[in-house]
Amino acid sequence: MNAALSPAPAHGDLDAFWMPFTANRQFKANPRLLARAEGMYYWTAEGREILDGVAGLWCVNAGHGRREITEAVTKQLGTMEYAPAFQMGHPIAFELANRLAKIAPPGLERIFFTNSGSESVDTALKIAIAYHRARGAGQRVRFIGREKGYHGVGFGGMSVGGMVNNRKVFGASMLPGVDHLPHTLDIENNAFSRGLPQWGAHLADALERLIALHDASTIAAVIVEPIAGSAGVVLPPIGYLKRLREICDKHDILLIFDEVITGFGRVGKPFASQAFDVTPDLMTTAKGLTNGALPMGAVFAHRKIYDAFMQGPENAIELFHGYTYSAHPVACAAALATLEVYTKEGLLSRAASLASEWENAVHSLRGLPHVLDVRNYGLIGAAELEPRAGKPGARGFEVFLECFERGVMVRQTGDTIAMSPPLIIESKQIARIVETLGSVIRETA
Ligand SMILES: Cc1ncc(COP(=O)(O)O)c(C=O)c1O
Repeated sequence: MNAALSPAPAHGDLDAFWMPFTANRQFKANPRLLARAEGMYYWTAEGREILDGVAGLWCVNAGHGRREITEAVTKQLGTMEYAPAFQMGHPIAFELANRLAKIAPPGLERIFFTNSGSESVDTALKIAIAYHRARGAGQRVRFIGREKGYHGVGFGGMSVGGMVNNRKVFGASMLPGVDHLPHTLDIENNAFSRGLPQWGAHLADALERLIALHDASTIAAVIVEPIAGSAGVVLPPIGYLKRLREICDKHDILLIFDEVITGFGRVGKPFASQAFDVTPDLMTTAKGLTNGALPMGAVFAHRKIYDAFMQGPENAIELFHGYTYSAHPVACAAALATLEVYTKEGLLSRAASLASEWENAVHSLRGLPHVLDVRNYGLIGAAELEPRAGKPGARGFEVFLECFERGVMVRQTGDTIAMSPPLIIESKQIARIVETLGSVIRETA
């Protein structure tokens, strides 16, 4: 097996790649190079097996190296590698949109294609503003995001996001007219909740206060992740999302769910909105859409939103927005094959059947040294560790590195360790992830 792996580059060869969201100097001194993947596993460039506890980066929901996706991509490359989607079309883009509409939350049946989660978010924000304008409410231009939110790295997504390190350097360049709801992480009241926390639905009422401050007539949309991933897994208290929906309805404000990580089966339904029985007006997705095989995102818009644009002369472009690679044919082929795998193998609901086993496994971390909280929902889990005095994030980073040394890949945000394995995971792999993490936590000072 090792013979098939590409040789690890010499350390000097790592200089040119400015790595994203990475401690470049630390990494280049001690590289962690992944060279091959199949099923639940990666193999490093040295040939070491690594159990994937995070589905790559929350995207490889059907596991690695899916032959069906490779074949569909190869076939499409041989048939037509590219076609524009501006004033032209190609059949599989429409086929994919129709397939997505069938699994969408009620009414969210109009699909706009992008290339990433960040682009999906900026697209949804622009659609929200343009929608109100199309209805004669062009003064509705404000957005309400949430503390600890992550909506990608475009200027729009960064502005509505609420993670300080992603924002502070770019402060002067934020979108104007953005305000933020309080986040819903409350360890004092909700530590070690199993599934959604009981306490905190009332935090949604902060939206009424922001509306009273800015006036509803100036607000285009509220954007939240149903479950926030990047900030270290922040769950919505029971009833919280419904309350947000009611307040948005009352004031004619659009509700956007960013389902870039929760979409495509992560929480036991195709989308978290279905799991929580709250339907937004716009929904942003990416990641699991192609099982991570090719970059692609999709914004799901309610029919009423699309219809509001369909006015004026028929030869006029209704929305001046799009990307050269919107509905890229090869990405469409990858997404169609991915949906086929998800459907055939029941992966869009598999997290629901594994949820209680997963919950018991991750909550076995309770009681270990420095573990302040354990959170879970669907096939998402997190352990929050006590920060070392004066060194926030140091313990979390050490735990992440040591898990990798012991053959398990988890994700670290500050002192929170997050887990979101491929949805094909088996019991023995659940046990291995949690046992490895547990022993590393126990042995980390
Ligand atoms: C909720 C959410 N929105 C948006 C994004 C950005 O997606 P991308 O990195 O594909 O631009 C992410 C990425 O993790 C995400 O978790």
